[in-house]
Amino acid sequence: MDNIIIPKSEIDKQKKIAASLREFCTGKKASVRTYGCQQNEADSERIEGALVLCGYEITKDTKNADLVIINTCAIREHAELRAFSGAGELKKLKENKKDMLIGICGCMIQEKHRREQIQKSYPYVDFVFGTDMHHRLPEIIFTALNSGKRVSFVSEKPHNDFGVISEDMPVKRKSDYRAWVSIMYGCDNFCSYCVVPYVRGRERSRSYDNIISEVKVLAAQGCRDITLLGQNVNSYKGEKAFPYLLSDIADIDGDFWVRFMTSHPKDASHELVDVIASNEKIARHFHLPFQAGSDRILGLMNRGYTKEQYLEKALEIKEKVKGISLTTDVICGFPTETDKDFSETLDVIKKVGFDMIYTFIFSPRKGTPAASMDRQVPREEQILRFNALNELQNENALKNNQNMVGQTIKVLSDGVNNGSCTGRSSQNKIITLDRPQEKGTFVDVVIVSAQQYSLTGRIK
Ligand code: SAH
Ligand code: SF4
Ligand code: F3S
Repeated sequence: MDNIIIPKSEIDKQKKIAASLREFCTGKKASVRTYGCQQNEADSERIEGALVLCGYEITKDTKNADLVIINTCAIREHAELRAFSGAGELKKLKENKKDMLIGICGCMIQEKHRREQIQKSYPYVDFVFGTDMHHRLPEIIFTALNSGKRVSFVSEKPHNDFGVISEDMPVKRKSDYRAWVSIMYGCDNFCSYCVVPYVRGRERSRSYDNIISEVKVLAAQGCRDITLLGQNVNSYKGEKAFPYLLSDIADIDGDFWVRFMTSHPKDASHELVDVIASNEKIARHFHLPFQAGSDRILGLMNRGYTKEQYLEKALEIKEKVKGISLTTDVICGFPTETDKDFSETLDVIKKVGFDMIYTFIFSPRKGTPAASMDRQVPREEQILRFNALNELQNENALKNNQNMVGQTIKVLSDGVNNGSCTGRSSQNKIITLDRPQEKGTFVDVVIVSAQQYSLTGRIK
């Protein structure tokens, strides 16, 4: 599908509406609560950018906000329940503050049954908007304030015609030294369990030039850690293929790391591994979800690779890029998964030795093929497998971290948080430091001890 960049005239129209709102909204406070993945975090920075343009001041203090937006996730049932309970908490607040505006957006809003549920059971929600509507936020707020009715801005057929890219709307970044840069949106892979292609629409890539310009500005501002975002960055379809985009970004002047999320194993190329190996500015972290070890389950999941192919890729990465941290996502209890299938998953974990695993129990998502497959695995078995995954991984994680004791590594400080001085390494490992270090600066650190999910280091 061709890129559909929202025309400048539409963006100008939104900026005009924002200007007309400023008189009314200046002095008012807005709060955005985010659930879900990095993509949603990045969207929330755009939402906050648009809110600032409308005159709002951003606050974390929901209680004192005049406008609250909940940015939701639909990936698993648990994520949806959390968002609903977040929305539920706002009811009381609004009872005490009648003119408070409440909006819900994000992936859950793209699901018809969730919109109906909000319509029916959350009467105090003033507006909802879909994942391709962020650039229209000024118009959405204007309409909500003026119509006195509930407002819905959602593409009716996200599945087919849901492919816009908005440039030139302001972004309010949470940090001045770590930044997200979206390089693509949506997903065309249709893994059989996953809701993302339905709620995020078709895959579309930003232009090479726009991405490079954004990174140049960040680098010039002193940003130290830049994460390129996409559901499957390897299928980036701009003017250059992903490995070359990554390499060009790493060549931009400035002292920063560039990282990326997420890679799909079927598209992670040898070129990509070679580019990472040859440039130290590309972070030593590779997140490569494998989901399951059994070829039969991988087939049912529509993942497009076998266990053997995955292992080859993972071991190539470890071999070519010394010291790289390899992390992954795993789903257990997928429909029809037997103990034998599951043992193949454990086998992959043993053979690769991941630094970190994100483990999930299969959650049926309405409208996806896996939700209606026969032989769903009973909950008790899913839990047993989930526990087995984590037990095995805990051992691996500790072993990997222990291997780092005595090494000197570069760490990006995050300053002092809740009384402890922490930072992150190029591998994205959390390091507890022995003394405060200004946040956003790099320091050399000797690793003195290892825990399962963090390391302790002494600044040199
Ligand atoms: N685009 C990324 C993943 C995004 S979703 C990729 O393909 O790697 C993040 C993770 O959530 C997935 O990797 C998967 O492990 C998990 N996930 C997605 N749908 C799920 C479902 N229905 N039940 C349980 N876990 C799920
Ligand atoms: Fe979902 Fe698969 Fe796309 Fe990842 S690649 S977002 S798991 S459909
Ligand atoms: Fe959730 Fe949407 Fe991300 S469903 S995981 S917030 S793309």
